[in-house]
Amino acid sequence: MILLLLLIARIFANDIPEQVHVAVGAYPGLIQFTWSTRLSTPTSAVRIGLNPSYLKYYYGTSNTFTNGTNSWVIHTANATLYPGATYMYQVGCILTNFSQVFKLTVPPSTGSSSTYLIYADLDIGLDGNLSWTEIGNRWPQLNIDAVIHMGDIAYDLSTDYGTWGDAFMNSIQPVASSVPYMVCVGNHEGDDNYVNYLARFAMPNNQFYYTWASGYVRFLAIDTETIVQQASDLTEMIGYIQNVLNRTQADKEAYPWLVVYGHRPFYCLSTQKKKSCGSESRLLQSTLESLFYTYNVDLYVNGHVHNYERTTPVYQEKVMGSGGSGNVYIDPLATIYVTTGGIGADGNNYDIDTQGVPSWLAAQDGNLSYSVFTAFNATHLFWQQWETGKNKTSDEFWIIKGSSAFAEQ
Ligand SMILES: *[C@@H]1O[C@H](CO)[C@@H](O)[C@H](O)[C@H]1NC(C)=O
Ligand SMILES: *[C@@H]1O[C@H](CO)[C@@H](O)[C@H](O)[C@H]1NC(C)=O
Ligand SMILES: *[C@@H]1O[C@H](CO)[C@@H](O)[C@H](O)[C@H]1NC(C)=O
Ligand SMILES: *[C@@H]1O[C@H](CO)[C@@H](O)[C@H](O)[C@H]1NC(C)=O
Ligand SMILES: *[C@@H]1O[C@H](CO)[C@@H](O)[C@H](O)[C@H]1NC(C)=O
Ligand SMILES: *[C@@H]1O[C@H](CO)[C@@H](O)[C@H](O)[C@H]1NC(C)=O
Ligand SMILES: *[C@@H]1O[C@H](CO)[C@@H](O)[C@H](O)[C@H]1NC(C)=O
Ligand SMILES: *[C@@H]1O[C@H](CO)[C@@H](O)[C@H](O)[C@H]1NC(C)=O
Repeated sequence: MILLLLLIARIFANDIPEQVHVAVGAYPGLIQFTWSTRLSTPTSAVRIGLNPSYLKYYYGTSNTFTNGTNSWVIHTANATLYPGATYMYQVGCILTNFSQVFKLTVPPSTGSSSTYLIYADLDIGLDGNLSWTEIGNRWPQLNIDAVIHMGDIAYDLSTDYGTWGDAFMNSIQPVASSVPYMVCVGNHEGDDNYVNYLARFAMPNNQFYYTWASGYVRFLAIDTETIVQQASDLTEMIGYIQNVLNRTQADKEAYPWLVVYGHRPFYCLSTQKKKSCGSESRLLQSTLESLFYTYNVDLYVNGHVHNYERTTPVYQEKVMGSGGSGNVYIDPLATIYVTTGGIGADGNNYDIDTQGVPSWLAAQDGNLSYSVFTAFNATHLFWQQWETGKNKTSDEFWIIKGSSAFAEQ
């Protein structure tokens, strides 16, 4: 028996779990852990505790994932944890071996300030690595509670039999193992019919559209690909979106900020993506904009266009109210749309269009950059656009709500 266990331990000794990442589950405090090993293990377990002397075990499941010659066993397990708390954990198997020790901070529940790192279109080329290395260096100061990556992941997850996906997942591991890494689909995930994407990420609800909440913010992720392709029935997703947005009205006190994100823009300017900023963005508008307006969505955030842009409060291409002055929006009368697709998609940045700029455009920048925003409380949200390599922001704005003393004329 002992010999057998020693033999098992030996076989698995070099099969150390990698590509470790976490995501929020169906309710605050539910965390989904995902990791990969080459061999299948008798159990898939997370060993976790607030301190190393008291550890709890949570068990999950695994699936074999094969992309040509590249084969992995991808494990997932859920744990119910305290929002806001910091844990030490390992992933692996109780009979073979566990990973190194990771540290995880669970996003806070309502009533706390919270901060998010948000971007789309990140590869592992020169530009992407430049931004990502900087984020790694600045991580201790940033105080990020969760990361949101709105599609176009690794360019592509499936490239070279998924080995690019493996390299990408390992490069984000230091961050994605320590706070939730929330994703949605972009056009590049569709390149292998979402097979790599679906195998590698677990999200609440499903990996195409879902909702979660933390701090003062309710998030809703949407799948813009299905809408622009007009290929399948949208009834189910639109029903879900409407239902979530409607439910938020009752929970405004807990989550006063409503942030929707997806890959593609509803409003944008681009020299390279005329269709995305033309017929396709108008299709997204006609499908969902009236719901965003009716249910007071504060921000819609996207990528796809490889730059940074923000709008005034806008509805049906019209600036609403005064449009806000400069960098402050006080009680905005419609959703503000932000494109943040400029973190680094190699050789394909610096896309700004200065021709025929519409009145709803409030700011635009084509340098490499990524976004960080903080919802301090029920009334103040602050956005910063960090310019890679410059140690400064290229744009900042505030949204201030519900303060009659400031009410817009
Ligand atoms: C278990 O994994 C660790 C790394 O996580 C490794 O250093 C160690 O050698 C492994 N031990 C066994 C018995 O396989
Ligand atoms: C984890 O929880 C999610 C709901 O958030 C569920 O869909 C999923 O099946 C669970 N995973 C495991 C391994 O139990
Ligand atoms: C970027 O970083 C990843 C992961 O560290 C690495 O695999 C890749 O080769 C790097 N890309 C370049 C162009 O150096
Ligand atoms: C696997 O890799 C190949 C080649 O890199 C790619 O064409 C294919 O779509 C990938 N996906 C799956 C699920 O096999
Ligand atoms: C919205 O929610 C309310 C309850 O808060 C319900 O009465 C109403 O039917 C819902 N509307 C839609 C369109 O789902
Ligand atoms: C990059 O930022 C500089 C200011 O720091 C600005 O002058 C320039 O126009 C920006 N480039 C693009 C492509 O937006
Ligand atoms: C909300 O946060 C802002 C920014 O930190 C601060 O100025 C304001 O006083 C806060 N409001 C309340 C009610 O705490
Ligand atoms: C970035 O700027 C801040 C203050 O503006 C400064 O304290 C810090 O040292 C700078 N960091 C680098 C790497 O230059």
